[in-house]
Amino acid sequence: KNIVSGEVSWQSPSNIALVKYWGKKENQIPANPSISFTLDECRSTTSLKYFKKEENSEAYDFDFYFEGKPKQDFKPKIQKFFQRIETYCPYLKDYQFEIHSENSFPHSSGIASSASGMSAIALCLMDLEKELYPGMSQEYFNKKASFLARLGSGSASRSIAGQLVVWGEHESIEGSSDEYAIQFPYEVHEIFKTYKDTILLVDKGEKQVSSTVGHDLMHGHPFAEMRFKQAEDNLEKLIPVLKNGDTSEFIKIVESEALSLHAMMMSSLPYFILMKPNTLEVINKIWEYRRTTGIPVCFTLDAGANVHVLYPENHATKILEFINNELVVYCQNGQYICDHVGDGASKN
Ligand code: PMV
Repeated sequence: KNIVSGEVSWQSPSNIALVKYWGKKENQIPANPSISFTLDECRSTTSLKYFKKEENSEAYDFDFYFEGKPKQDFKPKIQKFFQRIETYCPYLKDYQFEIHSENSFPHSSGIASSASGMSAIALCLMDLEKELYPGMSQEYFNKKASFLARLGSGSASRSIAGQLVVWGEHESIEGSSDEYAIQFPYEVHEIFKTYKDTILLVDKGEKQVSSTVGHDLMHGHPFAEMRFKQAEDNLEKLIPVLKNGDTSEFIKIVESEALSLHAMMMSSLPYFILMKPNTLEVINKIWEYRRTTGIPVCFTLDAGANVHVLYPENHATKILEFINNELVVYCQNGQYICDHVGDGASKN
């Protein structure tokens, strides 16, 4: 079909991995499978305006605006993304694009916006593709959106679908693939469908080491093979845990994954530490609180100093009291974000 111009807009959430992706092969293929909770409140809203070019040109033509202002430093990322997806989106050079994006979470909060941002752009492009080639199934749309998002940022592949999402091939997970993420295909206990994630903003600064560099340092890492095996085993162990609602096993796996991720950073060459003293203070407080109250609250970490506090919804009042009384002091400007498991991306 000949589409001259149009505009589409998507909202796509962030996600938090329970079993972490750290280390990749060529073409954004993960070294191990991962699983995440899709979040809800932390979102990117992205719109894509497209205008058919008069003449064919060999360059990508796009402008990027973040929160209404032109943002130059994000352009190389999109340029690289376009290069990677061009074979799968041959229409890219036929259009001039204007991309507008904004995040629901505070700018430079230390929360990575690559997952929400890249998945939102991928979804917008898929909408254009659907206009050009009508009749594609919803399943194809979602798979390809995740596939394209993965080429923008690996973890972005897990931001299309809702609740629990698996990316990377695992022999015990039917339909799992290295090329795109799928919704966790097995039974999930009610308790995990409304799980809370309160993100403590311990340090809002720029990361000293990007995740691209971090992934690369897994090549030749002395513990790499064991780490990839550990992640596979942990994902395997999570299957019955998610079904039975076994929070104590859940906690063991999730906290071990967070610390193993950071242990990989600390044992790579060059080595680095993304946790801050307050990250450790918070972890110790959570452990003490869990020991004394028996409430199944735990933490996980991304590639940064912020702490994600995970807990069942029915304990929310108590945990927020705990956070306000004992953990806010460790947050920069006392800031934290209340989020919970969400249903995935949605069209505006
Ligand atoms: O998507 P990337 O390349 O920014 O990698 C992110 C990796 C972690 O957030 C640290 C873990 C994960 O699985 O989300």
